[in-house]
Amino acid sequence: MTVNTKANGLDLRQWLADIDAGKQLKQVSGADWNLELGAIAELNVKKSDPKALLFDDIPGYPAGHRVLTCTTSNAARLANILRLGEIGGHQDLVSRLRGRPNTWKSRAAEYDPVEVESGPVLEHVAAGKDVDVSAFPAPLWHEKDGGRYIGTGCMVVTRDLDTDWINVGTYRVMIHDRNHVGLDMIPGKHGAIQYDKHMAAGKPFPVAIVLGCDPLGYTISGIEVPYGMCEYNYIGAILGQPVEVVRGQATGLPFPSAAEIVIEGWAHPGDLKEEGPFGEFHGYYPGKQGVSPVVTIERVYHRSRPILLGSPPAKPPNDYSYSKAVMRSALLMDALQASGVPDVQAVWAHEIGGARMFNVVSIRQRYPGHARQAGHLLLNCGVGAYMSRWAVVVDEDIDPANLQEVMWAVATRSDPERDIDIVRRGMGSKNDPLFVTFGTDTPFNSKAVIDACRPYDYLARFPEVAEASKALQAATRRKWGHILDD
Ligand SMILES: Cc1cc2nc3c(=O)[nH]c(=O)nc-3n(C[C@H](O)[C@H](O)[C@H](O)COP(=O)(O)O)c2cc1C
Repeated sequence: MTVNTKANGLDLRQWLADIDAGKQLKQVSGADWNLELGAIAELNVKKSDPKALLFDDIPGYPAGHRVLTCTTSNAARLANILRLGEIGGHQDLVSRLRGRPNTWKSRAAEYDPVEVESGPVLEHVAAGKDVDVSAFPAPLWHEKDGGRYIGTGCMVVTRDLDTDWINVGTYRVMIHDRNHVGLDMIPGKHGAIQYDKHMAAGKPFPVAIVLGCDPLGYTISGIEVPYGMCEYNYIGAILGQPVEVVRGQATGLPFPSAAEIVIEGWAHPGDLKEEGPFGEFHGYYPGKQGVSPVVTIERVYHRSRPILLGSPPAKPPNDYSYSKAVMRSALLMDALQASGVPDVQAVWAHEIGGARMFNVVSIRQRYPGHARQAGHLLLNCGVGAYMSRWAVVVDEDIDPANLQEVMWAVATRSDPERDIDIVRRGMGSKNDPLFVTFGTDTPFNSKAVIDACRPYDYLARFPEVAEASKALQAATRRKWGHILDD
């Protein structure tokens, strides 16, 4: 066996040691998988600077069968995950990320994963009647969930039917029984497209589900990497090292050699079952049970003392809403610039809209129509279209991440009759709470641009802002800081 020492098996334990040293990790002993663990994790992320939580001694499970949550929920850990080094806080993270997604995308082809024959994930392998996914403490995360979700902060590895494209997406995974799980892939997601091709050809669909590894894995499989590109390559470009993988015995699919737990099997044509409901990233249980593909698990691989990586959604802020806001804002910024919109200052995909439904861009207006151009592209560019609803465009003096300032601009600079553009029959989602409520057949939604910029044709006449100038503010802070900075 040749082990490429330069490759990276996405070892979660190395990452944990790193953040523990930085006092970013809290151990929790004795929390029950049945709602208690989920509620602790949910309340934890509502704090202003939440630590990651590592749950152990979960009743009914051997000590050492652990669950990790809140990995990506603050700036320091997210910067660490994205290999950005030490940062000076949230704003620093956002500015360091600028332009990086485009660089990672363009370098991805240089980082094909490296295959090895063995790795820590193969420490324990179960096949046939020994397969039992309930050996791991999958939580019942929320009170009204339809089942126990073993896959939330996971990576679902699948293969295309007619090319050798491997896709890695984050899709939720619910336990049906010891060797069956349900997989919820929204139509249009890359995994769903590959699945549909297999079903149309009457062929079983190969699936390997990585249930814990370095959180860089699910941070990237949970965002929009271009169609046809393998997320392992993209991750390799971030690391500056290829991902080290082993091949599954049942499907031949590649998964990280140092993964904690991997389950592997096939979704067979016609094998569908009720799945859900599940508390979602926008803060609702959208609808009742739906029907989704069942994966029959043929192999389970895990390390000793395995760690299940959980990242449960819920009303924002939730476990991954911060990382989604940061990542999607960076992707949207790059997308607007790539499509030729000049003078984009900043973009923010707000956590309150699950980083999809309420996005804001600030621009320095250069010409008539500039604001609407930015707003419409924000709503409908590739990375922004799915489930987008509101795009707000503000001038450069407004911080798009500051809701107070954004809504002040909406209240004072937009005239509803003139400044709201509606897009009809846009790309929606079956998970949209309104789609579920109205009960139509097809998930279109309407979308709106709110142009909250000062009217371009009357810029000279628009009143001045009644606020101390930046220079006066700075001078006042220098002299009166002892009064102002508590
Ligand atoms: C923690 C987490 C859970 C997610 N759950 C789902 C899900 O259940 N179904 C789904 O279609 N997308 C889900 N997503 C969003 C997808 O992972 C995301 O859209 C990603 O781009 C899909 O990969 P793909 O572009 O390769 O299809 C989730 C994302 C995260 C971070």
